[in-house]
Amino acid sequence: MAAFPTTRLRRLRRSEALRSLARETRLELDRFVMPLFACPGEGIVRPVAGLPGIAQRSVDELVREAEELARLGVRSVLLFGIPEGKDEEGSGAWDEDGIVQRALRALRAEAPGLTLITDVCLCEYTSHGHCGVLRDGEVANDETLDLLARTAASHVEAGADAVAPSDMMDGRVGAIRAALPETPVVSYAAKYASAFYGPFREVAESAPAFGDRRGYQMDPANVREALRECALDLDEGADALMVKPALPCLDVIRAVRERFDCPVWAYNVSGEYAMVKAAAAAGHLEERAAALESLTAIRRAGADVVVSYWTKELAGWL
Ligand code: PBG
Repeated sequence: MAAFPTTRLRRLRRSEALRSLARETRLELDRFVMPLFACPGEGIVRPVAGLPGIAQRSVDELVREAEELARLGVRSVLLFGIPEGKDEEGSGAWDEDGIVQRALRALRAEAPGLTLITDVCLCEYTSHGHCGVLRDGEVANDETLDLLARTAASHVEAGADAVAPSDMMDGRVGAIRAALPETPVVSYAAKYASAFYGPFREVAESAPAFGDRRGYQMDPANVREALRECALDLDEGADALMVKPALPCLDVIRAVRERFDCPVWAYNVSGEYAMVKAAAAAGHLEERAAALESLTAIRRAGADVVVSYWTKELAGWL
């Protein structure tokens, strides 16, 4: 490259039109997925303190929200459920009349254009809040696999277009793939034991009753291990790989992007969103600019698809 003054990089920054021509990364709404939380009851919209703009919604209200999202141009949602009751095994997860299954049937009927993706995990349904069943105080990997596969199958039966296992048991993608040969599986392949899930656990009521998730979710210090997780999940039949959280893991997103040719997803998690919301509410930064910069960074790192709580607002910003 020729040195200054032959080269002057400011030339292409002189106007918004020039900057736009030089822009390498763009945000397109159809690369974004909006998380939604279904709860029992009717007429319920229960906001969560830690996650401004996000609420638990009963199925009727969820349908309304989904219709609004569709009108705004949002094409995909990721569904979570808060069940009526919890038990040791998390049986609400695969109940054919469970909260997510009811939400799916209603959304399938009332918002037919929307792509419905479900989070497959037991933590919202177990009384102890762990992502699998317990044996002797430990999460039992192999016994959990069948329950996850049953959960995924019940989601598809109720109308899910794709399933996204987030539990981090070894072998779960293979178990789900065996049960559902034709369903897209978006694997939360590189999911870290992150401190940034705090507000989510408030909205999903899924904080572990004891201990933490470090016995199954990944150590945030590791990136080579993330690539091994990804390779295994692809071997087991995953269609897309997800990295989670997103902003603390931009290097992981980049590494996964470079190693694998499948679609790469990233989850811009609750804590990443809540931090910006809180700083903006305190007057320390401008939310929209900070959100757009965050989402652009995740796309620039190599994510094809971003799951983000900003998706609805993004529809208005773009
Ligand atoms: C379920 C699950 C979690 C998130 C997505 N799926 C919580 C967890 O693993 O504790 C977190 C999402 C977020 O923070 O926005 N296992």
